[in-house]
Amino acid sequence: MAGKRLIVGITGASGAVYGVRLLEELRARRGWESHLVLTEPGALNCWHELRLKRKDVERLAHAAYHPKDIAAAIASGSFLTEGMVIAPCSMKTLAAVAHALSNDLVSRAADVVLKERRRLVILPRETPFNLAHLKNLVAVTEMGGIAYPPMPAFYAKPRNLEQMIEHTVLRVLDLFGIHSTRVARWRGMAKT
Ligand SMILES: Cc1cc2nc3c(=O)[nH]c(=O)nc-3n(C[C@H](O)[C@H](O)[C@H](O)COP(=O)(O)O)c2cc1C
Repeated sequence: MAGKRLIVGITGASGAVYGVRLLEELRARRGWESHLVLTEPGALNCWHELRLKRKDVERLAHAAYHPKDIAAAIASGSFLTEGMVIAPCSMKTLAAVAHALSNDLVSRAADVVLKERRRLVILPRETPFNLAHLKNLVAVTEMGGIAYPPMPAFYAKPRNLEQMIEHTVLRVLDLFGIHSTRVARWRGMAKT
C-alpha cells in the first residue's frame, strides 16, 4: 500500500469547503491517500458555493468513486483504510449512516468503517436540528462514530473565514493522528 488511506465523503449539506479543504490538506501530506465519494447534491453545492465542478474536486483526491458505484473498493472491509470523514454531512446521509442503509457508496463506506471498528468522523450541518437529526447523531455516536459539527472555535481568534475553516479541518485531522503546527492550540489563558 502506497500510503494510509482516508475515505472522504462530500454530501449535499452547506459547507462544501470543508470537504475540499480536507482533500487539499491530505494531498499535501506524504504517506496519505484520499479516497473521495462526492454525491450529486454534494457536487451541486460545490458548484453553488465554490464554483468548482465535479472534476475539479475529484482531481484533488488520489482516487474518486461515483456514489452509485456500490462495487467500489471502499465498499468492502477487506480494502484497508484508516477510516472516513464525511464533510459536510447532510441530514439525509446522517440518517442513512445511523440506520445502516447502505443505499449509496457514502453510506455503504461509512457502514463498512463502523463494522470494521475503524474511525468515522462526520461533520453534520443543519440548523436548527429536529429530534430525528439528534437521535441519528446519538445512534452514530453509540456505534463509535464521532460527530464533529463544524462550529467555529472563537477561542482560536480567527481573523477570517479561511482561518476558521482551517481550524476545523486540522482538528478533524488531529482525530486521525495527523497533527499540524498551524492549529492554534490552547495553552492556558495567560499564553493567548
Ligand atoms: C443549496 C443547498 C443547501 C443545502 N444545505 C443543506 C444543509 O445544510 N444540510 C442538510 O442536511 N441538507 C442540505 N441540503 C439538502 C440536501 O442536499 C439534500 O437533503 C440531499 O438529498 C442530500 O443528499 P446527499 O446526502 O446524498 O448528498 C441543501 C440543498 C441545497 C440545494
